[in-house]
Amino acid sequence: MCKATLKTITCKAAVLRGVGEPLKVEEIQVDPPKASEVRIKMLCASLCHTDVLCCNGLPIPLFPRIPGHEGVGMVESVGEGVTEVKEGDIVMPTYIGECGKCDNCRSGKSNLCHTYPLPFNGVMPDGTSRMSTSDGTRIYHHFTCSTWSEYIVIGANYVVKVDPRIPLSHASFMSCGYSTGFGSTWREVLVHKGSTVAVLGLGAVGLGVIEGARTQEAARIIGVDINEKKRALGEAFGMTDFINPSKDSDKRVSELVNELTGGLGVDYCFECTGVPSLLNEAIESSKVGIGSAVLIGAGTETSGQINFIPLLCGRTLKGSIYGGIRTKSDLPIIFNKCLNKLHKCMATCSSKCGVSPNLQ
Ligand SMILES: NC(=O)c1ccc[n+]([C@@H]2O[C@H](COP(=O)([O-])OP(=O)(O)OC[C@H]3O[C@@H](n4cnc5c(N)ncnc54)[C@H](O)[C@@H]3O)[C@@H](O)[C@H]2O)c1
Ligand SMILES: [Zn+2]
Ligand SMILES: [Zn+2]
Repeated sequence: MCKATLKTITCKAAVLRGVGEPLKVEEIQVDPPKASEVRIKMLCASLCHTDVLCCNGLPIPLFPRIPGHEGVGMVESVGEGVTEVKEGDIVMPTYIGECGKCDNCRSGKSNLCHTYPLPFNGVMPDGTSRMSTSDGTRIYHHFTCSTWSEYIVIGANYVVKVDPRIPLSHASFMSCGYSTGFGSTWREVLVHKGSTVAVLGLGAVGLGVIEGARTQEAARIIGVDINEKKRALGEAFGMTDFINPSKDSDKRVSELVNELTGGLGVDYCFECTGVPSLLNEAIESSKVGIGSAVLIGAGTETSGQINFIPLLCGRTLKGSIYGGIRTKSDLPIIFNKCLNKLHKCMATCSSKCGVSPNLQ
């Protein structure tokens, strides 16, 4: 489409107008993409727990806002200078870019790109929004994305192509929670063969950690959740032991994990609940001297007290955004793993998983 003919689109979106207010599906206007930007028609979106935090005004209370940072869509139009993607491509909007050139990208040690960072200010890099309500009020973006809108505008550097053979719902789930957990076992820390792992919280993030730890050939993967239904789910992903702290005893989580591991604790403990008190439990569930605790959960409280002595005793505490996944380099690897798994799935099941006929 000729750039000069690009018009504002009127469409529907789930709009949040303030803390505690219900999401309302409203008619909104989405501007054409400017230079280096892409407008996407969303085809599928999903829910990450961080969207719930967003609805509670965290990390920054900017309203009106359109939540959602998981999803996939089709490129509807591109702004001047965009060459990486074209109209009709199936893409995933991401909330971190990867320039490949800044200090962090070149270090190979971090996914937190300085050039295309995770934005918390609710606007595009030029300081403006591409969305407005019918009365002309500007709407804030959620990170870069706002996937709970029928159309979104995002910087082309925050977009990754998706193989169209991947079912949209599978692709959408790989946008944040699952990939965050999976990536953290491989990009944030390198879970080693034969190691012991504990996972606090078995939502999309925690289940992704279990899958990653299994892929890395951890010997023991202990899942911890207060929801008994997560036992079967965790086992399906490769968990070897389950602790339900609300049911099994009144002991602390770290005591229960230590009991299961001969008093040593685990090599790696991943905090995936966002419950502030569980950060100390994650630290104290990891081995003295060599254990690592990885903080992924984002809570409603922004700070908690870290117990000094357990951390002083040689443990490592690592924070993680998006599991250390580098969006341009690592997401395609995860997509390929998904496709390979779907190939294998097709060999045993007929059509229930929604795999594209192209794979058959
Ligand atoms: N750092 C990142 O980049 C990143 C990315 C995605 C999600 N997150 C955060 O990770 C956390 C998990 O996200 P999710 O989408 O998997 O959430 P989810 O709500 O699907 O899962 C959370 C799980 O934790 C369990 N849980 C809650 N309280 C518990 C407790 N006291 N003890 C044990 N288990 C408990 C719940 O039963 C649930 O199964 C959230 O805080 C989310 O905001 C962070
Ligand atoms: Zn960079
Ligand atoms: Zn998320």
